[in-house]
Amino acid sequence: MSGSFRITRLQPSDAEAFRTIRLAALRTAPEAFGSTYEIEANRPLSTFAERLSSSAVFGAYDGQQVVGMAGFMQEAGPKVSHKAFVWGFYVEPAWRARGAGSALVAALIEAARDVVEQLTLTVVEGNDPAIALYTKFGFTTYGVEPRALKTSAGYVNEVLMTLRLPSGADAKPKGT
Ligand SMILES: CC(C)(COP(=O)(O)OP(=O)(O)OC[C@H]1O[C@@H](n2cnc3c(N)ncnc32)[C@H](O)[C@@H]1OP(=O)(O)O)[C@@H](O)C(=O)NCCC(=O)NCCS
Repeated sequence: MSGSFRITRLQPSDAEAFRTIRLAALRTAPEAFGSTYEIEANRPLSTFAERLSSSAVFGAYDGQQVVGMAGFMQEAGPKVSHKAFVWGFYVEPAWRARGAGSALVAALIEAARDVVEQLTLTVVEGNDPAIALYTKFGFTTYGVEPRALKTSAGYVNEVLMTLRLPSGADAKPKGT
């Protein structure tokens, strides 16, 4: 089944919606993320607003309800600012397999093209839905970090993926 979702870039004024979907992600899919619900649930709303300034974050809306998100953050520093790191990719379970994830990644790639030349991401080994989706958009695996995360259930490996954005802007190093 396919759905139609409104994908929009979240602004600092959308901090409440961002907080809702981010905490839902950490609570519902803790194995998929490096951060934890306990850490972020105690942060003030201003922290979430600030994150919407430092990162480009996209929300997927079904009507007025935010049901998914994905973000990218440009790396800082003259030799790495041609790259951005994809983070926080999540769709609420009841809305999965209806195209929201694909719509989010498509919007993210389109926006990143204007800013950077290359996207990188990490994904937990064995997260086949996410790896299949990233692969569908052209991401390729360049390595696996063994024991990248340490959880109460043990160590977890992470797959490292990258996507070149050949028609992207020649990202100017920051501060030049
Ligand atoms: C990964 C995730 C965001 C995908 O969202 P989604 O809305 O279900 O994605 P889509 O409906 O757009 O599916 C797109 C593609 O994902 C893959 N996919 C989705 N569900 C899948 C499943 N159960 N098994 C295998 N592949 C799957 C397919 O490649 C699919 O493409 P297709 O429709 O052309 O076959 C969602 O599963 C999720 O939130 N997972 C938990 C959090 C997570 O793992 N985040 C990634 C962190 S790196």
